[in-house]
Amino acid sequence: MIPVARRGTFAALIISVALMPLQPAFAASPEPVKAEHGMVVTAQHLASDVGVEVLKKGGNAVDAAVAVGYALAVVYPTAGNIGGGGFMTIRLKDGKTTFLDFRERAPMASTKTMYLDDKGEIVKGASTAGYLAVGVPGSVMGFETAREKYGTLSREDLLAPAIRFAKDGFVLDQGDVASLQNGAKKLSKDKAAAAIFLKPDGKTFSIGETLVQPELAASLSSISEKGPDAFYKGAIADDIVKASAATGGILAKADFEQYTVRELKPVTCNYRGYEIASSPPPSSGGVIICEILNVLEGYPLSYLGYGSAETVHAMVEAMRHAYVDRNSALGDPDFVENPVEKLTDKAYAKEIREKINPFKAGVSKELMPKGMGESTETTHYSIVDNDGNAVAVTYTLNGSFGAGVVAPGTGILLNNEMDDFTSKPGSPNLYGLVQGEANAIAPKKTPLSSMSPTIISKDGKPFMVIGSPGGARIITITLEAIINVIDHGMSIQEAIDAPRIHHQWLPDKVYMEPFALSSDTLKLLTEMGHDVQIDASWPIWGQAAGILVGGKNLAEIEEGGGARYNGAMDSRAASGAARGY
Ligand code: DON
Repeated sequence: MIPVARRGTFAALIISVALMPLQPAFAASPEPVKAEHGMVVTAQHLASDVGVEVLKKGGNAVDAAVAVGYALAVVYPTAGNIGGGGFMTIRLKDGKTTFLDFRERAPMASTKTMYLDDKGEIVKGASTAGYLAVGVPGSVMGFETAREKYGTLSREDLLAPAIRFAKDGFVLDQGDVASLQNGAKKLSKDKAAAAIFLKPDGKTFSIGETLVQPELAASLSSISEKGPDAFYKGAIADDIVKASAATGGILAKADFEQYTVRELKPVTCNYRGYEIASSPPPSSGGVIICEILNVLEGYPLSYLGYGSAETVHAMVEAMRHAYVDRNSALGDPDFVENPVEKLTDKAYAKEIREKINPFKAGVSKELMPKGMGESTETTHYSIVDNDGNAVAVTYTLNGSFGAGVVAPGTGILLNNEMDDFTSKPGSPNLYGLVQGEANAIAPKKTPLSSMSPTIISKDGKPFMVIGSPGGARIITITLEAIINVIDHGMSIQEAIDAPRIHHQWLPDKVYMEPFALSSDTLKLLTEMGHDVQIDASWPIWGQAAGILVGGKNLAEIEEGGGARYNGAMDSRAASGAARGY
């Protein structure tokens, strides 16, 4: 930390703030949704209702997570899916934590250079659109594995709401329509996708109209009846492979037949007495959140204040160092050795702090590892049940509506997750991430992710469930929600709604959401050498979904008497909702 005596005139301000008790920031957010028995927070209100119904029926948080996962595949097609993949972090009522990796795998016919032309240049769009971009989907196997191992209700029970929404349709609200409008151009390029998500005249649906998906209803019904074999060994896989082969894709039936889910140990770390459990490789999320938190633990953020130049400087420098590690050292654990212990070690964080100049921005290029020259949509939901079981799920098609293709007859939108691999070391992907060899493409390998479904405990009890979409920014979005609650005293809703900042090593820029920093802070950061850029693009700043246990904020939790469950859906999410009972 900066020695107080060296801070000049700024020191007076810091000292006076330091003498004040922790002031919660009042960010003008609504109150979180409060409930005593269970809470479900998702990006689509109908899916949140499904989760609460499952809990009321006696299902546990895992049952609710499975039913919500299937429901979002129908009512939130931009990211909810059975044609993509994701991660589920589980904390059972006895305190045991576990993690299911049901992310996509590269097809067996994939190669390291499959997105490069003869000259070694990236073929634009090859890893993001059409069947060559599709990884072998994992959602169906993931949901069934979760249900069989940790759920209590039948598959039929958990699929029924999704089948109903697909068969009978659901009424589109403003957020649903905006999402379909955003995807219209992409979806219009694929006949089967256009037939579902656009009207026969090619126009987009309007608010109040009903979206019916009979083919998806049939696919979901056959999964309900026959289990994952219907997807991985039956007609669904056949239809996807046929459509892929017809348009230059490389998916084979054997890719589906050999798909398995991995159960892994979450990455854990302790931040100021709070136990964080988050996603391990093949996600970078948990490791990098822990690495950044470990660095930040050495700075008194609550006294430096939310949005102050010193707080933001410390955050940016911690992010800069951690994202170099993300982009160069991490990959699928079945293929590369991940230095998880080193990156999450407090001693390593201290080394990083020693490299951070308190008065000056670092220079990303100086951190370049040897041999390396980085519209969007995912969704996160958080659930807790009456017994205290907690589940955090982030799953995705990668880009909004994935690769924009639906295999005829299936109603299933397919992912473009292959773009998360390193197509070419040093060249940025969809999220501007510049990545290296550890994340190179190989058959059956899983691309490195940033998805960070996270569960935090305190004194052996669940404290917070949190996560978000946002591509490379998922990590910093999740991190900022955590420090806003723990360091800045915000309520869970304020912590999620507060404007965000982001740095990912390259490009060497501090991105800020509009209004995230005052002009005073901006001036100070610029004087330190930071290149701050306002980024108003949507939806890259994510849509976090969080639950805080025991109160809406730390003060209420410490006083006692707060609501048991406090749910918050990001105000950035147009159709999401926190629902409790
Ligand atoms: O796994 C990942 O890191 C990305 N495929 C996530 C994509 C995403 O969050 C897009 N949403 N805004």
